Amino acid sequence: MARSRQPLIAGNWKMNGLRADALALAAGVAEGVRRAGWTDREVLVCPPATLLMAVADAVIGSGVLVGGQNCHADASGAHTGDISAEMLRDVGAGHVIVGHSERRTDCGETDTIVRAKAEAAWRAGLLPIVCIGETLAEREAGRTLAVLETQLKGSVPAGAAAAKLVVAYEPVWAIGTGKTPTVAEVASAHAHIRHVLGALIPDAGAVRLLYGGSVKGSNAGELLAAGDVDGALVGGASLKADEFLAIAKAA
Ligand code: PGA
Repeated sequence: MARSRQPLIAGNWKMNGLRADALALAAGVAEGVRRAGWTDREVLVCPPATLLMAVADAVIGSGVLVGGQNCHADASGAHTGDISAEMLRDVGAGHVIVGHSERRTDCGETDTIVRAKAEAAWRAGLLPIVCIGETLAEREAGRTLAVLETQLKGSVPAGAAAAKLVVAYEPVWAIGTGKTPTVAEVASAHAHIRHVLGALIPDAGAVRLLYGGSVKGSNAGELLAAGDVDGALVGGASLKADEFLAIAKAA
């Protein structure tokens, strides 16, 4: 079963990078991945939309995959400032992150909106990475598993299957804070996510579940070895090629 779930190490650059830095970072990641020659794991970078085309060009032939950080649910139309899944696909993206907690918080994205974005990703031929995760208050109230279940049921579209979906578990309190759950806490969250997915989709056992939140080279080995963890969604540490490659190596 482990082999059927090829590890995915995804870098979420967030709102970071001007052309020069981003191209240097992309070149560094591409060079490392080319040199490693991995065939047993996938490495993805999700730059800001302004840099997608340039980064996609910069990593051609290296095996590095490129994705967007968000998309609108519609294919086109009067949505000033938004970008559709089709537009991401058009400039070389194969993946898109949807429902990141920063978008849920900053932009008021609900589970219903996230689900529509995941459907938009399918429509455009992109693989959506659906993010879920509890806040510190929710964890302290003992509501972690219930929150994850509600978010999953609301955010995963009908018709989902392992080949069409990646889920990222990102505790909100672990994002950008340097704090991480224990390995046991990650394993328990992931086991519950897989259990809930079992009621939603036929091949839930094959869905890749990523952990995200303060992953770095020094803790990746431990976190990625936790039960039911099939990769990582990496923010801060994906902005340094060496650090990001160290995480990919640990997968
Ligand atoms: P972080 O961010 O690695 O900086 O904690 C993770 C994320 O938000 O995806």
